[in-house]
Amino acid sequence: MAQWLIQNGHLIDPANGLDDVLDIRIVDGNVAAVGKSLTAEASDEIVNASGLIVSPGFIDIHCHLREPGQEAKEDLVTGTASAAAGGFTTILTMANTRPVIDQAIIVAGMKYKIQTDAVVRVEITGAVTKGLEGKELAEIGDMAQAGVRAFSDDGFYVNDGRLMRAALEYASMFNLPVISHSEDCCLVADGVMHEGCVSAKLGLKGRPAEAENIAVSRELMLAEMTGGHVHIAHVSSKGAVDLIRAAKAKGIKVTAEVTPHHLCLVDKTIESFDSAFKVNPPLRTNEHIVALLEGLNDGTLDAIATDHAPHAYEEKDCEFNDAPCGFAGFETAFSVLHSRFVKTGEWSVQKLIQKMTAGPAAAFDWQDRGHLSVGGLADLVLIDPNKAWVVDPQKLLTRGKSCPFAGMEMTGQVVRTMVNGKWVYQDGKITRK
Ligand code: NCD
Repeated sequence: MAQWLIQNGHLIDPANGLDDVLDIRIVDGNVAAVGKSLTAEASDEIVNASGLIVSPGFIDIHCHLREPGQEAKEDLVTGTASAAAGGFTTILTMANTRPVIDQAIIVAGMKYKIQTDAVVRVEITGAVTKGLEGKELAEIGDMAQAGVRAFSDDGFYVNDGRLMRAALEYASMFNLPVISHSEDCCLVADGVMHEGCVSAKLGLKGRPAEAENIAVSRELMLAEMTGGHVHIAHVSSKGAVDLIRAAKAKGIKVTAEVTPHHLCLVDKTIESFDSAFKVNPPLRTNEHIVALLEGLNDGTLDAIATDHAPHAYEEKDCEFNDAPCGFAGFETAFSVLHSRFVKTGEWSVQKLIQKMTAGPAAAFDWQDRGHLSVGGLADLVLIDPNKAWVVDPQKLLTRGKSCPFAGMEMTGQVVRTMVNGKWVYQDGKITRK
């Protein structure tokens, strides 16, 4: 395996408190040394990273790779290529596949396929209920033993509180989190966007923020009752942020994530009736964004997660009411947030990187990820903070070409991604060097 010396990069490793121009040597898939002006060894292959940021590989704790069964939307090859292009070296894929990942045998099949098809580390979520139907608990123990890293019926709220309680109890026996898609099913009914002035004006049915707040409150109470770890997916409402903050203060075992789109886009974009903006939970208003930003600042929200949810272009290319929810997110995540918050001076780049590396790793207690410690995994990313580019969905590596950031100008882009000491993405292409 090649030995790499990455020289003169601006190394930002929030977990280790590093923020300096440093060299890093990679040997046999591990970080062998980090320091100022390391002396090159004969076997080093040198990468000049001056002007670039060197960061631990990003960790995405919420994505949909659509495999097995919905390969027209995405598969392990295209999904992990897209993740690598976005700088992600570990991703957690959700269970809403066909068949649903609700049995150990399906987990085993996924693990087998990941070995041949994936260019980044893929972790698996098992379903909470069989078939995501919300009626009967899935094989929690068997799937835990087969290696899932979390449980979730993401896409749906587990409506039956008794089942959610049992899931939290079982999952805690394996020290695993239960991820909640928190939207009260009855309140959202067939709503297609945030309920408010814009939905009223457009005549589209709404999904009120209260649906999220109510759903989150139950999860927090069940987490307190059971002592289990609940993770709130794609937090989008002010009420949810307030509830999670109060629960954390009380010592309840809760973690939470927020997506780039909920931080950057509002419901008003839907005045275009463009289905690229259709997602669950829905894009809300500035008032909610302000609360999400406060939640990120004070640690209420632990991580930024993409909720990469690709659909085939033809599926999205229809009336707003009929389009499926979600869109691709890996390849735009860093750049969108860097352009919107770092370039404008609102956030430091360290903060953004923390929420995409150490933050998610700590939320799920993945101690071997999210840092560049000597002796640890060589999963890293090189970023050009000044690279200007325009989002052209046709050029993205994902199969899901519908993108709410299409046509937007970005500053800052991932230029290389390394997983386990090998470059898997470089110059716009997947490599396996
Ligand atoms: C996701 C999907 O398409 O699987 N859609 C979405 O709008 N976010 C499901 C989910 O994450 O809730």
